[in-house]
Amino acid sequence: MQPNPYTPSGRPRVFVGRERERQRLRDQLARVVAYGEMMGPLTVVTGPRGVGKTSLLRDVGEQAAENGLVVAWVSAVKQQPILGELIHQVRTALERAEVLDPKSARRVEEVGVEVSAGIAKVSAKIGSSAGWPAEAPAAVVGPVQDFLRHTSNLVRERGGAGLLVVIDELHAPLESRGSTERDPYDPEPQAVTDAGVLLNVTQNMDAERQHFPVAVIGAGLPQTKALLTRAATFGERTHELVLGEMDHATAEAVLVEPARRLGVEWSSDALAAALEDADGYPQTLQIIGSATWEAARPEQGAILEVNNVILGRRAALAEMTSLFHTRWAVASEAEREFLTAMAQLPESMVSRAAIAAELGVDTDALGMTRRSLIGKGIIEAPQRGQLRFTIPGFAEYVRGQVDDSEH
Ligand SMILES: Nc1ncnc2c1ncn2[C@@H]1O[C@H](COP(=O)(O)OP(=O)(O)OP(=O)(O)O)[C@@H](O)[C@H]1O
Ligand SMILES: [Mg+2]
Repeated sequence: MQPNPYTPSGRPRVFVGRERERQRLRDQLARVVAYGEMMGPLTVVTGPRGVGKTSLLRDVGEQAAENGLVVAWVSAVKQQPILGELIHQVRTALERAEVLDPKSARRVEEVGVEVSAGIAKVSAKIGSSAGWPAEAPAAVVGPVQDFLRHTSNLVRERGGAGLLVVIDELHAPLESRGSTERDPYDPEPQAVTDAGVLLNVTQNMDAERQHFPVAVIGAGLPQTKALLTRAATFGERTHELVLGEMDHATAEAVLVEPARRLGVEWSSDALAAALEDADGYPQTLQIIGSATWEAARPEQGAILEVNNVILGRRAALAEMTSLFHTRWAVASEAEREFLTAMAQLPESMVSRAAIAAELGVDTDALGMTRRSLIGKGIIEAPQRGQLRFTIPGFAEYVRGQVDDSEH
């Protein structure tokens, strides 16, 4: 058998589609490369889990590196402040790119220490007060800005193009801790402060863009922009690139291209069956591709047939179920009731009113639950007042949960 070319839980071997988003990000980065100036306001790529945010940023990051940008990759963590990690990753990226001589390394170190001292001072203050400050603390904004100016210009002096900071899972630090019933939004104060600082810094850098050969791109669940706006009013100016399901031709390419490179083709029946199951959703496409491959164990020159897709379905379904399971496990009681009501309705696109009727409540009473489910990327509202599940198969899974709990 040829090695399985599908990547259900990682960066795709062949990245397809997303031309519009790639072009947009590329154009913004081209500004940094050509003029040595800030890319523009913070840009965030948003969308449900498994839609391809990280893959897109990896692809863009790789291209950026080819064009001379030093890329610092930050994976934000639930309720954890991000600035410390950001500084650390920038420094690591500079070391790796061998931009630092001993003297500049010392200088970068010093600025880093200044930032940490500012953060410590501010945390102490937050610790002794009830919440986070309404204004981003100047004691941190200034040093972070200096740090980025210094490091990005260093890259340029050494013949590079500048600095790209990528922050994946940008919603995570700002998620509610859910510790109090009273206040439904209850985030970690230091994490909110850090996000506020980041937004202020990007805003200031954009205003003085000629001094900052820097780009900052984030990715996160659909709620990211709303959470950023709560952290600082500047959050509003964030550019959002929304990733959705793939169109038919792109979805087809996700399946066909990796196989073709190994001399394996899909029959048209097999392709049609797989595409129908996956419904344009990248993660499902990779899972089905992988399961079909394992079922067929193809050699070079082989053709994947519809019976391979059918044989692979059981494994694909098991994998999807485990994904759904983690989402169901973190849903609140109210969210589960909402999802259950939604899954009982026969259409794939469901009106808010129908869900309210199913639950026997007023439509307005569902507002908060609906928003939080959209924010988590479990459901989406493609049209006003209409809702659907983002991931194919989730409705069936929810119906299964209900059956299980009844038996
Ligand atoms: N453009 C693409 N071409 C081919 N496969 C893709 C593409 N985008 C994503 N995929 C595949 O889809 C799956 C999910 O992608 P990715 O991890 O990038 O999603 P994500 O939006 O970052 O999800 P999460 O929110 O869970 O982090 C992976 O298996 C990846 O290989
Ligand atoms: Mg991701």
